[in-house]
Amino acid sequence: MTPFPPGFLFGTSTSAHQVEGGQVNDWTEWEAITATQRARSARASSRYGQHPSPVWQAIKTAAKDPANYRSGRAADHYHRYEADLDIAASLGTNAYRFSVEWSRIEPKPGEFDQAALAHYVAVAKACRERGLEPLVTLWHFTFPRWLGEQGGWLAPGVENKFAVFAEVVTRALAPHVSMFTTLNEPEVASSLGYYLGIWPPGRRGLISYLRARRALVRGHIAAAQAIKAVKPDARVGFSASQIDFVTTIPFLRPFVEIAARLANDYFPARLHNHCDWIGAQYYFQRTLGRHRSAPNSDMGWGLHPEGHEAVLKRLARFHRPLYVTESGLADAADAHRAGYIEETLAAIDRAIADGVDCRGYLHWSLLDNFEWHEGFWPEFGLVHVDHATLRRTVRPSAREYAKLIAQLKSPTP
Ligand code: BGC
Repeated sequence: MTPFPPGFLFGTSTSAHQVEGGQVNDWTEWEAITATQRARSARASSRYGQHPSPVWQAIKTAAKDPANYRSGRAADHYHRYEADLDIAASLGTNAYRFSVEWSRIEPKPGEFDQAALAHYVAVAKACRERGLEPLVTLWHFTFPRWLGEQGGWLAPGVENKFAVFAEVVTRALAPHVSMFTTLNEPEVASSLGYYLGIWPPGRRGLISYLRARRALVRGHIAAAQAIKAVKPDARVGFSASQIDFVTTIPFLRPFVEIAARLANDYFPARLHNHCDWIGAQYYFQRTLGRHRSAPNSDMGWGLHPEGHEAVLKRLARFHRPLYVTESGLADAADAHRAGYIEETLAAIDRAIADGVDCRGYLHWSLLDNFEWHEGFWPEFGLVHVDHATLRRTVRPSAREYAKLIAQLKSPTP
């Protein structure tokens, strides 16, 4: 691989609920209600009906423990962000994506907590001090309890509340942050929370799903306008979950395209005119016909890093600069991560060589964290976190990522 375009962001990604610890939001409510049941029903097979977990024997005890399903103190990143950012900088990364926690900032309707805002200003400044471009996500799956109780994305006027929140956050962060992500994976949030009902607010059915999707669209548009009103030069986007649909059977090819349109295009098609850029988040393929054999992640997701190329090429149809704002794998043994990252960067390189305007890659995740429905056992971190002691250990794959960054970063003029 030759050096990537000048200014390309090589980074890492996290989200508040998954790493900060000490949350009081709709997800912690959900955890309290569902932890026991989830522990009882834990099985080797994982979400999205992919393959059974290949490490089930090793993680069975953790998966059957209700404590696994409570985010609790998570990685205590809220208090340890400076040391964590030191690690991110030591790898040679130049960007860090994190989310601001709405429930901390607006714990009661219309009451904004200045200390919480000051915390995120400090995080953004700490990024800048270490040469990391901060990418701030406004909504990464969690609501304050008061808004969760009203139905989350089904709450009356939720898009206006989101816009006010966006405005308050932008006012505070404007001097330090240029890149904002309004929504993280609205595809996943709407299908798991409002169609399948396995995430909060636990709504099931087509009508709530369609309503939630429409509210998410309105939410992005309202928030993007609010951000621009405060900071006209802000660069606003959202992060789309993208699945790579493939088949080896020629007559199934048209169906692959139909599946990709249905699963991937709803939000980009409606939001690209309200975006300066789009985030691509790719974790797995879906195969029509026979699966191509590949190793599986600990969650049973087939590892197909080459799929980044097709996903980026499809998203390029929306004519916006792209950033891979998430990509990664649960791999506690760190057996596949380094190779996966290298092949991912090679796939991005091919897409760029073919004319795709991709400007960044942010690996999910900097730290082992709380993986939503599965809880703590899946380990996505470049940095291992011992959840008993909170001790950080940089994994060998992180060192390999650092080597690739050193090789691929364009020299600064
Ligand atoms: C989400 C992350 C999650 C990751 C791995 C994405 O769906 O944005 O919060 O941890 O995938 O499942």
